[in-house]
Amino acid sequence: MSAFYALLFTVAFLVLILGLVKKIIQYSRVPAPLKIPVTPAPLTKGGVAIRLAKEAILFAALFRSNKWTWLFGWLFHMSLFVVLLNHLRFFIKDVPLPLVLLQNVGEYAAFTMFIGLAGLFARRLFVARVKYISAPSDYLWLILLMFIAFTGIVMRFISHTDIIAVKEFCLGLVSFNWQSLPTDVPLMVHLFLVCVLMILLPFSKLLHIPGLFFAPSRNQVDNPREKRHVANWALDLDAEKNKTQPK
Ligand code: HEM
Ligand code: HEM
Repeated sequence: MSAFYALLFTVAFLVLILGLVKKIIQYSRVPAPLKIPVTPAPLTKGGVAIRLAKEAILFAALFRSNKWTWLFGWLFHMSLFVVLLNHLRFFIKDVPLPLVLLQNVGEYAAFTMFIGLAGLFARRLFVARVKYISAPSDYLWLILLMFIAFTGIVMRFISHTDIIAVKEFCLGLVSFNWQSLPTDVPLMVHLFLVCVLMILLPFSKLLHIPGLFFAPSRNQVDNPREKRHVANWALDLDAEKNKTQPK
């Protein structure tokens, strides 16, 4: 069983990383022929960096758009962030003090993550407009994440797993020295679903993670008058024309 999980984790991690790299390369090559920053937009590159940070950390555009979706969405994402930071303790031998201190907050993060997901799920079920455009995968992602959070909460509060052994397993994974894993059901389910998440992520709407930073409506500087905007492929065409046509 341990060997199966070690193999599954290795495969899932490779799919996740290679899939993300492939997508990021693809995104970076897509031409943006038009200047389309949503205004009011920043006038400098520094301003764009601040705008993107505000989007990634505060979900600024979603806040302006819908307060309930923002509330549950932001709650879920921030809690997930804390939960994932807390999980670093499984992969770092000597856990640094800030991460140790974060452990206490982490307990509640699991619950706020679940509440956020439940709110987003209810939105898809009960808001008619949203229900109309929801695909099965929209529900399935939320259910998958709720199950991961639920099995995590079970392990932390109800039926404990041997986290020392889990840590050894995780450290073994990163150093290619596979160790055995406890076989209690919540842990098996938790880890299996985490692998499903990693394998599907590069082929799904969860690509919004890198995608946000490539959105031309958010990452462009609002300077169309000061600087003529030419897409990369059009620049290449210009160069070709200049080569073949005598001036
Ligand atoms: C840079 C990191 C991330 C940012 C900035 C971000 C941002 C967002 C935003 C703004 C939405 C709301 C979309 C809308 O309804 O208008 C969203 C939805 C969603 N995000 Fe993220 N996200 C990030 C990372 C993640 C990660 C790591 C996961 C899970 C592993 C995730 C899972 C989801 C899911 C499942 C939804 C859909 C919720 C629904 O049913 O409406 N996100 N994200
Ligand atoms: C490398 C992969 C992972 C491993 C080995 C792992 C293992 C564990 C273990 C052993 C616990 C119980 C902690 C305790 O008893 O103190 C736990 C809890 C939890 N896990 Fe994971 N997990 C992984 C990935 C994830 C991911 C990707 C998510 C979220 C999408 C997640 C969400 C949670 C939550 C919400 C809890 C309960 C609260 C907490 O202890 O932080 N886990 N996990």
